[in-house]
Amino acid sequence: ELSPIDKAKFVAAKRAADLVEDGMRVGLGTGSTAAWLVRCLGEMVRKEGLKMRGVPTSTRTAQLAREVGIEIITLDEARWLDITIDGADEFDGDLNLIKGGGGALLHEKIVATASDQMVVIADVGKEVGRLGAFPLPVEVIPFGWQTTQALLEETLISMDVLGRTATLRMNGDTPFITDEGNHILDLHLQRIGNARQVALVLNQIPGVVENGLFIDICDTVVVGHGDGRVEIRD
Ligand code: A5P
Repeated sequence: ELSPIDKAKFVAAKRAADLVEDGMRVGLGTGSTAAWLVRCLGEMVRKEGLKMRGVPTSTRTAQLAREVGIEIITLDEARWLDITIDGADEFDGDLNLIKGGGGALLHEKIVATASDQMVVIADVGKEVGRLGAFPLPVEVIPFGWQTTQALLEETLISMDVLGRTATLRMNGDTPFITDEGNHILDLHLQRIGNARQVALVLNQIPGVVENGLFIDICDTVVVGHGDGRVEIRD
């Protein structure tokens, strides 16, 4: 028996999996909700003969996709994708997102941007009036990361945000390392007034590779509820 939260993630993933048709190239997201999607698609491949190829957004997702029998191709082999289906940490009424809680934001953003459509799957608890309660992940290169951190905090002073601290994400006793060998600084902003501006300004800072704000990238959010209901936002 699934807990209500897992049920919500599962029903959202299952509904989104039905959007995948024969011949499609599909961006496969990262995280616990996206893992349900990958399992659903694997079952469709094995039991219904669905013909699709997947571009994973992380080594974790690639491994799971292989395990469930999905054919994997690289983004460069695919060049463009019909659809990307991924989770999110927060989504707002404009379908803007915070992503990167799982640390895969860089590949996730590249893959989503290369897709005709991006569909987010999320339990209803991810819905917010305004982004920012979830710490905003920013991927930075390891060289001089503390200088980048200081510059980031300084830059936030002129932004319409409440909190301003940037903390290095850890993996036990050592810094978390992304699939590209970078670090993550989590920005505790509490409330982001102008997400579009914050997203642009952060990426101007030397050492910053990418940030977890997805602005105007997501087309549809499939929202799952603990009682099995599904809502579509687009
Ligand atoms: C991974 O880097 C993230 O962007 C995930 O999409 C996000 O953290 C959602 O994860 P869950 O589905 O596990 O909540």
